[in-house]
Amino acid sequence: MTTDTLLATPTYEQDFWSDEVVLNPYPTYRTLRDLGPAVWLSRHEAWAITRHAEVRAALANPEVFSSARGCMMNDPMNTAFVGNILCTDDPEHQQMRKTFARPLMPAAVGVLKARMEELASEQVDRLMEQESFDAVVDIGHHLPINVVSELVGLPEDGRRHMLDWAAGSFDAFGPLSSPRTITGLEVAQEAARYTRGIDPARLAPKSWGTALFQAAERGDIAEAQARSMMMGYVAPALDTTINATSSAIWLFARNPDQWARLRADRDLMPGAINEVIRMESPIRAFSRYVTRDHEVGGVVLRQGARALMLYACANRDERNYPDPDRFDITRRARDHIGFGYGTHTCAGMHLAKLEMTVILNALADRVAAFEIVEEERRPHNTLRGLHRLIVRATPD
Ligand code: HEM
Repeated sequence: MTTDTLLATPTYEQDFWSDEVVLNPYPTYRTLRDLGPAVWLSRHEAWAITRHAEVRAALANPEVFSSARGCMMNDPMNTAFVGNILCTDDPEHQQMRKTFARPLMPAAVGVLKARMEELASEQVDRLMEQESFDAVVDIGHHLPINVVSELVGLPEDGRRHMLDWAAGSFDAFGPLSSPRTITGLEVAQEAARYTRGIDPARLAPKSWGTALFQAAERGDIAEAQARSMMMGYVAPALDTTINATSSAIWLFARNPDQWARLRADRDLMPGAINEVIRMESPIRAFSRYVTRDHEVGGVVLRQGARALMLYACANRDERNYPDPDRFDITRRARDHIGFGYGTHTCAGMHLAKLEMTVILNALADRVAAFEIVEEERRPHNTLRGLHRLIVRATPD
């Protein structure tokens, strides 16, 4: 960056990863959007792309906004993730994605629905006998932990650590100035060691993990790719969906009229899920590497810069969503970018939506209203969500 470029540049000088911003990001997001569609984060030496139209355009333009030099905010992670599906560009990326996404297509995940409904129904019945429950652990964890771990086929030692590895790795996406990044890096290294060392013979037969190693044997993908893709089923699948589900209950508890509407008309479910992801996007931002000088909103992003795609900020953009802080399940929110956009659009989106649909339906069958007893947010570099959400559910 030259000084004369900076003079004309909208600039934000605070720490974007401070506890304060992470725990209550929405005022900062509004400030950033008001400053411009591309804002220089001077403390982190990176751009933030803030508004809906510009984030979408950037995600649709991987030739300029490349993933191949990493999507994180620090060199150790960007180097460690070289070759990971998230951190490659097309055509290599699409080649990997063909194998990876096979079990995650709508028809393939649809087969899981009946089993999920059974698990969800039993769990909600159990919870309705209690005076209160934790919507994060008792509801949010239930399907991702039980279903995903079974499908991936990890042995018991891997399953036990999955949640910690996933949350730690996402914390490590932050800048090195954040203590959470440093702690996260240690956890990410532990997860990487496990992934490198896993013996394919210990994976459950017919599991997604085994299918990846079979694809490697056929020569469709490299063995190292099979290992990293296996964790690609785990790391991004857990806290994202867990946070989205518990955020849904938090939003419905605070907006009982919306819960009543959903209960009365289940056709509103797909729209309700989009609105939850729009309002409380579980992933705040991933970054891209700028491959050549490129203008956004009158400022030039120089080749070699890092640009953050602020999904969560764009999803509250008043230029695209009237009254963006209002939770309205009938809103047209299909164009939200909480699952990303373009070639890296979330590969697990159909699974996540199915898990949320099944659990919310099971609750809607039995719960007339939620009352929040206690809530605790979790400060996290990449993920937005609750650590604890104790609720009392009024039965029908
Ligand atoms: C509500 C839940 C979820 C949310 C909000 C979410 C969000 C996202 C976002 C924003 C991206 C885009 C990354 C980018 O632009 O670089 C992404 C990519 C990805 N997600 Fe998800 N995700 C969720 C659930 C899942 C699940 C359940 C899985 C796996 C089973 C998964 C696997 C992936 C993978 C592998 C990618 C990278 C895709 C690629 O690079 O082509 N996600 N997700």
